[in-house]
Amino acid sequence: MAELSLTNLTKSYGQTPVLRDVSLDIAHGEFLTLLGPSGCGKSTLLRILAGLEVQDSGNLSIGGRNVDGLRPRARDVAMVFQSYALYPHMAVAANMALPLRMRRLSAWQRLPLIGRLLPGTGRTKAEIETAVASTAEALGIGHLLSRKPGQLSGGQRQRVAVGRAMVRDPAVFLMDEPLSNLDAKLRVQMRTEIKELHKRLGVTFVFVTHDQAEAMTLSDRVAVMLGGELLQVAKPQDIYADPADRRVAEFVGSPKINMLKAVVRERGRAETAGATLTLPVEQPPGTQLTLGIRPEAFQLAGRDRQDVLRGYVRLVEHLGSDLFVHLDLPGMDEPLIARLPVEQAAEAAVGRMLELTVPTERLLVFDEAGRRVRHSAHVVSVREYAR
Ligand SMILES: Nc1ncnc2c1ncn2[C@@H]1O[C@H](COP(=O)(O)OP(=O)(O)OP(=O)(O)O)[C@@H](O)[C@H]1O
Ligand SMILES: [Mg+2]
Repeated sequence: MAELSLTNLTKSYGQTPVLRDVSLDIAHGEFLTLLGPSGCGKSTLLRILAGLEVQDSGNLSIGGRNVDGLRPRARDVAMVFQSYALYPHMAVAANMALPLRMRRLSAWQRLPLIGRLLPGTGRTKAEIETAVASTAEALGIGHLLSRKPGQLSGGQRQRVAVGRAMVRDPAVFLMDEPLSNLDAKLRVQMRTEIKELHKRLGVTFVFVTHDQAEAMTLSDRVAVMLGGELLQVAKPQDIYADPADRRVAEFVGSPKINMLKAVVRERGRAETAGATLTLPVEQPPGTQLTLGIRPEAFQLAGRDRQDVLRGYVRLVEHLGSDLFVHLDLPGMDEPLIARLPVEQAAEAAVGRMLELTVPTERLLVFDEAGRRVRHSAHVVSVREYAR
């Protein structure tokens, strides 16, 4: 059974649609990442899951229970915010204890003087203190409990925010770009910690980021979001190697995937950038297509090869382990980028003409609407026709 089930969720702010018909099932214990550029609606979707916003239409269930209309506190979820949202006047311990105090103590019990006199208050408070201390210990912030957020580094604040979510022991963690305020080195370190945390807790994580490296390294599945729409939900390697949509292919991968305009000339062959390439699918002659080619899919052609792309080297970027070679090809507005091994630096010098091949199965074919073409259209073959 899915831990989270999103069915046809939509949301607009005024006239502006922010979420368009979002449907998604997230399994128990899964690490799912929402990946998309700034403004695509990631935080809005997460806030709807947390119960901090209400969708205009569609349903949401958590743990098999419909939670529409259920207040945030009544849902079995905890959220780590983009800004951490720690209370500056409260010490770390109090910040971390807050969700438990709100849930386990009544309004009367939370009062400083009267609360102490009410039955059970002392015991519950002690339990909360123990839970906070052991969570803080697990996150390596046990020594910081009496500090205020302003006296912490970015990474420590981030841990406190995670700790505050952890003490609630939720079935689902919602994390909104929790690493975006950290410097590059710390980000990589915290990435590992979040992954370990997920493994240790074994609960469902929904993680939001616009950083593809983060999404690719952390997730069981990645949901690529653009303009309020989920374009593809798949394993990280499939998002990269087997994109369902041109926009997914272009959003993921650095340097960007090469996109070449092509026209089908005959069965399974298309003309592009001065070459004729064999396609992995057959389409009727005259069909306009776009071919997506990852930079690392290119190989230097041997002699007398057909199916080669020819271009002049305009620029070479040395990366130590590899070369990014920029080539000018006939009829292309932007240079083509090929990733080649450093051993080929001599051949790939600026000004030289290179001949490149691409294995047919590494050509990603997109139709005019940008959708991936995976199957051959039925074309009557010459042999069938002659029969
Ligand atoms: N309360 C609001 N009122 C009006 N518009 C809003 C509100 N909250 C968000 N928006 C708009 O909705 C769109 C999606 O916002 P959202 O915060 O979900 O994006 P995001 O994907 O989280 O972006 P980022 O990566 O920058 O955090 C944006 O265009 C934003 O301006
Ligand atoms: Mg956001």
